[in-house]
Amino acid sequence: MPSVVILISGRGSNLQALIDHATETSEYQIRAVISNRPKAAGLDLARAAGIETAVLDHTLFDSREAFDAELAQLVDGFQANWVVLAGFMRVLTAGFVNRYLGRLINIHPSLLPAFPGLKTHQQAIEAGVRLHGATVHFVTPELDHGPIVDQAAVQVLPDDTAETLAARVLQLEHRLFPRALAGLCAGRLNWTEASGSLRVNGALDAPLLIDISNKGH
Ligand code: GRF
Repeated sequence: MPSVVILISGRGSNLQALIDHATETSEYQIRAVISNRPKAAGLDLARAAGIETAVLDHTLFDSREAFDAELAQLVDGFQANWVVLAGFMRVLTAGFVNRYLGRLINIHPSLLPAFPGLKTHQQAIEAGVRLHGATVHFVTPELDHGPIVDQAAVQVLPDDTAETLAARVLQLEHRLFPRALAGLCAGRLNWTEASGSLRVNGALDAPLLIDISNKGH
């Protein structure tokens, strides 16, 4: 069975969705959950599911490079096929990213390439977009710019705040992320280099997830 290591920093709701999917389908096995924050609530979710956890507190390191080198040692120790960022709120060095290139993925709460970075829901409201959502993508050294694996969209409603929009997008993230990871683990998607740029080839079984038919409440 394909194996994954999941990196988190906080709440862990996407982690829980990934745990639930693994339990229900056995499409991948979660070897460990690593947090850069000792108090991340997601650590308790992992423990409750009987998954090994580790903490690597970034505040104890002098540099990003030193932290990432130690993180790589930790990750490598679990010998997993995939490294999954699920709300891991640290920018990773190119050295770390290149070490796992092609098997390192992230979920970002916007329809990339729109709204990379932070406060994506506020950015979406300010930009006046009618569709917003989430993206699962391969991680490359340029932040939030790696090849897109899958996306899910929600309609932006006139009375949305960043909070209400975030809540609706999060519901979709929980469906999107396990599906994308399972597709990668099963080899239904491959990442190849074509004409100088990197693209995901192949397709998921299900059609692109678009949930605009109701208000998501
Ligand atoms: C999610 O919105 C995810 O897209 C972003 O960080 C948030 C993590 O939430 N990268 P959670 O910890 O999974 O609940």
